[in-house]
Amino acid sequence: MPSDNPFHYGTPAEGDFFTGRRRELDALVARMRDGINVVLVSPRRYGKTSLHRAAQARLAASRPPAAIVEANLLHAGSPSRFAALLAGAAFQIRGARWARARQAVPEFVRRLRVAPTVSFDQAGNPRFGFDAALGARELDEVVSDVYALLAEEQGRRPVALVLDEFQALDLVGLQLPNLLKGLADAYPAVGLVLAGSKRHLMERLVSHREAPLYGMAQRITLGPIPEDEMVAYLVARAVTGGRPMDGTTARYILDLAGPVPNDVQHLAYDAFEAATSRVDRGAVDAGMARAVAHDAALFAELLARLSPAQVRVITTLAYQPVAQPYSASFARSVGLATGSSVRKTLLPLLENDDVVERDGVLVVADPFFAAWLRGDG
Ligand SMILES: Nc1ncnc2c1ncn2[C@@H]1O[C@H](COP(=O)(O)OP(=O)(O)OP(=O)(O)O)[C@@H](O)[C@H]1O
Ligand SMILES: [Mg+2]
Repeated sequence: MPSDNPFHYGTPAEGDFFTGRRRELDALVARMRDGINVVLVSPRRYGKTSLHRAAQARLAASRPPAAIVEANLLHAGSPSRFAALLAGAAFQIRGARWARARQAVPEFVRRLRVAPTVSFDQAGNPRFGFDAALGARELDEVVSDVYALLAEEQGRRPVALVLDEFQALDLVGLQLPNLLKGLADAYPAVGLVLAGSKRHLMERLVSHREAPLYGMAQRITLGPIPEDEMVAYLVARAVTGGRPMDGTTARYILDLAGPVPNDVQHLAYDAFEAATSRVDRGAVDAGMARAVAHDAALFAELLARLSPAQVRVITTLAYQPVAQPYSASFARSVGLATGSSVRKTLLPLLENDDVVERDGVLVVADPFFAAWLRGDG
């Protein structure tokens, strides 16, 4: 298996795998440097984590390097786990005051009102843990203390707290918004970055008039990467990988994969694997078939979890995106009595991002799932 594939998908894009987003990156870097809070929103897999990691990398490389703590709420799972993630990330701030002390760990722990347990991994790095029954008040203290120790660094260098997958807040049972609002007011120099997908959840938390975090952050929304940039990236990377492709083939990849950067890179990856000397149209078709076959078991599982009506709706959408899903004629075409039964049927699919609205029409979000539903490949 060659490991020199010039495309990358699934986890954040870094270095040579990262393209475009110059304006968004400049905007984010400037806000983080200046302590202006940001809400970074996009549908799934458009590149939020890649973007804030690129911003973090730029700020880490600047002089003096920024002090940044990042935690991913999807990895939190519980308040105590979230506290542990935060403490672990905070301890690693390079050049922090405690890091310069002879006894860095006690010096760090002294700054937390809720004492963590400390163990050491094989490399001698500390791991922090908190009681599984950590209460809401204690979690608030940990979050506040991490904010305060970031603020210790302010004035000397840019400081920021990045909370990724912020839409998962309720899922993991955290009640942070009011606390964060208070902390953002108390420590204006700390740039808070809240990144998340699922627009309706993010809106409820931050951008609705009644939302607890309303008005406290600049919103940065990620759309698709412009087609010309993506084409140039695909062509250049294929050349670097030693199996060139032309612009027409790159556009064909975009046609099949749709606008989500992750899907474009996924198809390009499999097309590159399928190619011998050049990535041509045939290689793209073969790559599409590989990508679909690879996830076939997953798609079958996904389908098995849907109701018969949902299966009919999503399969219909896989063939033909629809602009008027709640019309009587669409309802009839999927064997439902009324538009409102379509609405009920679609709701979980929309909430789960299996089906999304793009350019005013409803489509199956994942192009590989759509191809599998159509029986392509
Ligand atoms: N700037 C970029 N240049 C090239 N590819 C990108 C870029 N941003 C994202 N991608 C592609 O999208 C994939 C997912 O990126 P990333 O994990 O940053 O998205 P995300 O919005 O954070 O996703 P999620 O909603 O799952 O958290 C990457 O592996 C890469 O294939
Ligand atoms: Mg992400």
